Amino acid sequence: MRDSLQNEIPHIKFKDVTFSYPGNKENLIFKCNFSIKKPGFWMVLGKNGSGKSTLLKLINGIIKPKNGAIYSKANIGMVFQNPDHQILMPNCRSELLININQNISQNEINKKIEYVLDQVGMTGFEKRPIHTLSGGQKQRLTIACALISNRNFILLDEPTSLLDQTSQLKVLKTIKNLTSDQNKPLSALWITHRYEELMYADAVAELKNGCLSHWKEPSKFQYN
Ligand SMILES: Nc1ncnc2c1ncn2[C@@H]1O[C@H](COP(=O)(O)OP(=O)(O)O)[C@@H](O)[C@H]1O
Ligand SMILES: [Mg+2]
Repeated sequence: MRDSLQNEIPHIKFKDVTFSYPGNKENLIFKCNFSIKKPGFWMVLGKNGSGKSTLLKLINGIIKPKNGAIYSKANIGMVFQNPDHQILMPNCRSELLININQNISQNEINKKIEYVLDQVGMTGFEKRPIHTLSGGQKQRLTIACALISNRNFILLDEPTSLLDQTSQLKVLKTIKNLTSDQNKPLSALWITHRYEELMYADAVAELKNGCLSHWKEPSKFQYN
């Protein structure tokens, strides 16, 4: 089933990317270079205001660099900090439906809905009203929406910062499972300011002074 959801290995590359917000002379992102060429769980750590959300906006093309180039071959989905800002419909099924390519049979739609809910550990939640979901379940539903709309690269902007520890772990493990899938691993870029989340990543980098550090294994990563 995943085959029909994701076909290509996504690839993102920043080459000397510089960015400042209009009216602000100071460069928030300055000569930033990095690439993500392999599926996996990629995490970026950075202090408040360091430009993490801005980096994601550059990756998904919401804003354009002032200098440098961004190369992107990916079908990008977003998961925001607050799922209430993202979920539009009254229940899980209808939310998934607005994210699906509906040019397929009812039977296929039902199969896909079942499949993606299973992928995020929410089997049987199809009819559940959104207001009965916990924060973590809502976050996992937004991940399911990204999967059902054929996204192969998911950007997550501090997705656990509003969650309790149990929900935080469930969302982390959901992404861990999807990114380490044997057949079709997903690519995920996870923004955090929580040091304890890094151990789940395949690679970690810090955004500091406008630049992203080199990718490192979590055990070799040092945060200053
Ligand atoms: N739309 C905007 N216009 C002007 N300045 C902004 C805008 N969005 C963010 N900023 C500023 O850019 C800096 C970095 O913001 P952001 O990327 O949200 O950081 P982070 O996500 O790491 O906390 C902050 O100083 C913020 O005030
Ligand atoms: Mg932010």
